[in-house]
Amino acid sequence: MAKRFELYGRLGQGSMSRVWRAMDHNAGREVALKILDKFKTIRFEHRFLGLNKPTEGEVAMQLKHPNIVKTFDQGITTADEQFLAMEYVKGISLSFLVDTQNKKMRKNRLNFIIQLGKAVQYLHDQHWIHRDICPRNVIIDENLELKLIDFGLVVPNTPDFQKPGNRTGTVSYMAPELIKRQKTDQRIDIFSYAVSCYEMFTNEHPWNVSGETIEIVVLLINKPPKDLRELEPRVDDQIADTIMRGLEADPYNRWQTVGEMVEQFEEAQLRLAKQRSLLKKKSLAASRQKKTSDEKTDHDIVVENPEEFAKYEKEGSKTEDSSERSKKESQKGTAFNLDDLGFEAESMDEESK
Ligand SMILES: Nc1ncnc2c1ncn2[C@@H]1O[C@H](COP(=O)(O)OP(=O)(O)O)[C@@H](O)[C@H]1O
Ligand SMILES: [Mg+2]
Repeated sequence: MAKRFELYGRLGQGSMSRVWRAMDHNAGREVALKILDKFKTIRFEHRFLGLNKPTEGEVAMQLKHPNIVKTFDQGITTADEQFLAMEYVKGISLSFLVDTQNKKMRKNRLNFIIQLGKAVQYLHDQHWIHRDICPRNVIIDENLELKLIDFGLVVPNTPDFQKPGNRTGTVSYMAPELIKRQKTDQRIDIFSYAVSCYEMFTNEHPWNVSGETIEIVVLLINKPPKDLRELEPRVDDQIADTIMRGLEADPYNRWQTVGEMVEQFEEAQLRLAKQRSLLKKKSLAASRQKKTSDEKTDHDIVVENPEEFAKYEKEGSKTEDSSERSKKESQKGTAFNLDDLGFEAESMDEESK
């Protein structure tokens, strides 16, 4: 084992494992080497005695999808611990992007949401339940490709494993039926996916709770969540409605498949893109018209909305510096959406990617 893998550095510490960046000398490539905590794994697997549950490595090796981390090899170390040799994903955790809500996040949210949905739908198509969908288990690589990781809690979506009782997972992402020890199926992932999507827009939990306490559990079960638009009124309705329906307490009122959610998100994405390109054309035409009628106009100011443009032309003070003025215009809040999400242009906190 030590001969085969040369450790370069620590990539992460999960709840069940340690992950290292390493050179796999057998395969001649760099990998992310995940070594599972022996006793925690035994305790977890003990819940499924006699059910022939595949190990994390066995599950991971079967998964082939562009939005799921590749696992090259798996096995047992000389210290009798399970290991997985995966592709090393150079990137940042989705939980970091949720926390910072930086430009990269704001510009790509819908794209990330769709990629994550596709990964989860693929897992369900292969008859697995992930059971731990949350931003911490997602990496965004340098090309903005999303990779779902961590198959430590995966179980087959079959009657034996749908039986109530197994409540492992991350508490604040757990579906009510899981907390209440009822039958669970792929719809618990749909709930966790919806919580993750909600956080990607707001950096807040739908029930405004964090941590892993029993109060969270009680809140989740007894109260409806806060509508996404209360926190972020600029979110497109189709997107907000889709996320909110994923948070329904009763799994029968929830979306039944992730694919249906992805369809809604893709439809909204297309519509918003069309809206944006139409706006661009309009504002271009408006600025051309202006140019012929009034050669003194400040054409370096880009105002996406033609009505706003006209207003600016009328109200704009000659003493105001042009960049100041366009900033003010964008702060007034026009009804038009300038990035992927149905959000208008934001003038604050423009940190780079
Ligand atoms: N293939 C990978 N490439 C890069 N980093 C990884 C990879 N797999 C895991 N990590 C890092 O290790 C951390 C823990 O991995 P994870 O599989 O979530 O373990 P656990 O099951 O213990 O939660 C991740 O949050 C991530 O930072
Ligand atoms: Mg994890």
